Amino acid sequence: MTQNAIQKNKPELTIEHAQVELSLSDLNDLCDATDAAIQDGGGFGWVNLPARETLERFWNGAIVMPQRDVFFSRMDGSICGACVLVHPPQNNEAQSHAVQLTSHFVAPWSREAGLAKMLLQRAEKQAKSRQYTVVNLDVRDTQVVAIKLYESQGYENYATHPAYAYVDDHYVAGHYFMKILDAV
Ligand SMILES: CC(C)(COP(=O)(O)OP(=O)(O)OC[C@H]1O[C@@H](n2cnc3c(N)ncnc32)[C@H](O)[C@@H]1OP(=O)(O)O)[C@@H](O)C(=O)NCCC(=O)NCCS
Repeated sequence: MTQNAIQKNKPELTIEHAQVELSLSDLNDLCDATDAAIQDGGGFGWVNLPARETLERFWNGAIVMPQRDVFFSRMDGSICGACVLVHPPQNNEAQSHAVQLTSHFVAPWSREAGLAKMLLQRAEKQAKSRQYTVVNLDVRDTQVVAIKLYESQGYENYATHPAYAYVDDHYVAGHYFMKILDAV
């Protein structure tokens, strides 16, 4: 195969910041991607597949809430993953420097292409542009790929909660990570 043919087969990868309600087709793709990731083992909050209406409300709500920044990934035009920045409430002045990263996942069919790292870096760029200096996140002990990714991106595991999640009648430990963002 020539170099040109290899290049042509590379999927197109993009990250977008959702600032207006998604089209029906994009919302459907985002819900399909969420379902696929939950069915594959979840790891980002959901354990059981939610009803489609619940998922649509969750994503539409996150996109329009001023306290959230939603990012999603596309592979060859189809939405396939996401992450969300949750801003601190206004009354929490002491923690107004820190933002929480949640709902970070990529659908199994689009994994290992670099999209989770791209989502994380895009979210960090947004956090910096909003003057945050710290990103916090937490993750189940079972999510070994995610844990390696966060460590490789400079996140420090500062605490472990032995009963962080409850899945299939068992407690699962979880890890708390933080990263101090470099000055812009
Ligand atoms: C964790 C997750 C988001 C990674 O998504 P992804 O798009 O496949 O990740 P990327 O392609 O950006 O790869 C990031 C790194 O992980 C490595 N990686 C990805 N999948 C891997 C796998 N199955 N085995 C080993 N390494 C893997 C990549 O090689 C890359 O390493 P590098 O930086 O050394 O090149 C995805 O597996 C997922 O959605 N998991 C379930 C949800 C979850 O755990 N979310 C995090 C907690 S909120």
